[in-house]
Amino acid sequence: MNILVTGGAGYIGSHTLVELYKAGHTAVVVDNLCNSNPESLRRVEAILNDEIGNSNPTDIKFKIPFYRTDIRDREGLEHLFAEHRFDACIHFAGLKAVGESVQKPWEYYENNISGTLVLLDVMRRHCCKNIIFSSSATVYGDPAEIPITERCSKGLCTNPYGWTKSMLEQVLVDIQKADPEWNVVLLRYFNPVGAHPSGRIGENPNGIPNNLMPYITQVAVGKRPQLGIFGNDYPTPDGTGVRDFIHVVDLAAAHVAALQCFAPDFEYRNANFIYNIGTGNGYSVLDMVNAFVRVNGVPVPYTIMPRRPGDIATCYCDPSKAKTELGWRAKFGIEDMVRDSWRWQRQNPEGYPDGDGL
Ligand code: NAD
Ligand code: UD1
Repeated sequence: MNILVTGGAGYIGSHTLVELYKAGHTAVVVDNLCNSNPESLRRVEAILNDEIGNSNPTDIKFKIPFYRTDIRDREGLEHLFAEHRFDACIHFAGLKAVGESVQKPWEYYENNISGTLVLLDVMRRHCCKNIIFSSSATVYGDPAEIPITERCSKGLCTNPYGWTKSMLEQVLVDIQKADPEWNVVLLRYFNPVGAHPSGRIGENPNGIPNNLMPYITQVAVGKRPQLGIFGNDYPTPDGTGVRDFIHVVDLAAAHVAALQCFAPDFEYRNANFIYNIGTGNGYSVLDMVNAFVRVNGVPVPYTIMPRRPGDIATCYCDPSKAKTELGWRAKFGIEDMVRDSWRWQRQNPEGYPDGDGL
């Protein structure tokens, strides 16, 4: 298939490009680079050349078409659709910093919701009605049951970022109901971590990381003095928060598996296409820190801090629906996650080089 990948220069998008091409698909990337660097795309091409291309390094086989376009720019998208025919869209583009969304709710609703509405309109005008949407475990709020299944009802989000995901799920479900030509796949990611095993692409957060794993790697590499662990008095085995961490390469592979939903003879066509994408294992914050230190042999000093507002104690999923229907399951374990996160950080202490080079 030829896939439009919005937000393809970002963390999950870049890893998904690798898996798409490895599975024989092609892609076109649209990204406004507000939170990414096009160097990621060059590195994706280099990985593909090494993994499946010609061994002659001067023979660049993979060139991923890239459009530096904002998905809110209707004319830009029209231009893109005039030049390419797409079988489906994998829609990653969006702002994702939870804390920032509390400070700038208008910007989050405008970017994520208006952007998606423009994208959907241009898609339908060009008869491309297959979409995979990056949703999040955050839509479950404080979940009614653990492990979380897709039958679990959605909950109250604690921040505007989470609401954009929850609202966009609803928009997509309603559009599909009104026009059954649409195929809408909602992938609810749990906690993506790790990096491509080559260490060439990975997560490149701006400023102080919000999430646990980039914070750990930045402490390990000496960029930050210590990790703050937000609370050790949760009702969990060691008192720290428990999450379903998933290796980003597994997550990327889930998108390739989800493309099956668009086949007219897909066995589960009459069901909904909502899938939890996690491992089904809950690891605590201390489990992650201890595994990181053990596997990588580098110290990660930490201190216990007060709980972070909005955090829940435990969040992990039952991923069996994705296994049964898509034949997908996570293959990487906690040791792979901490090893690959560290390889990326160690090889790229400052992330991708400055300047977009375009
Ligand atoms: P990321 O910030 O690395 O990638 C998102 C990309 O979208 C960036 O390259 C950014 O430049 C681009 N973008 C943002 N707004 C845009 C716009 N208006 N037009 C064009 N491009 C735009 O984030 P990621 O971690 O790769 O996440 C990808 C998607 O998955 C996001 O929608 C995110 O909300 C969702 N998600 C991420 C996580 C996570 O922990 N990383 C968890 C659940 C869901
Ligand atoms: C957060 C977001 C969620 C988003 C997800 C992936 C909140 C409330 N939720 O999930 O909406 O989908 O990221 O982007 O922000 N921790 C520390 N110290 C740190 C950072 C984190 O102890 O410096 C702890 C947290 O308290 C939590 C665990 O590590 O227990 C995981 O945190 P994080 O990586 O931020 O992910 P979530 O909070 O699960």
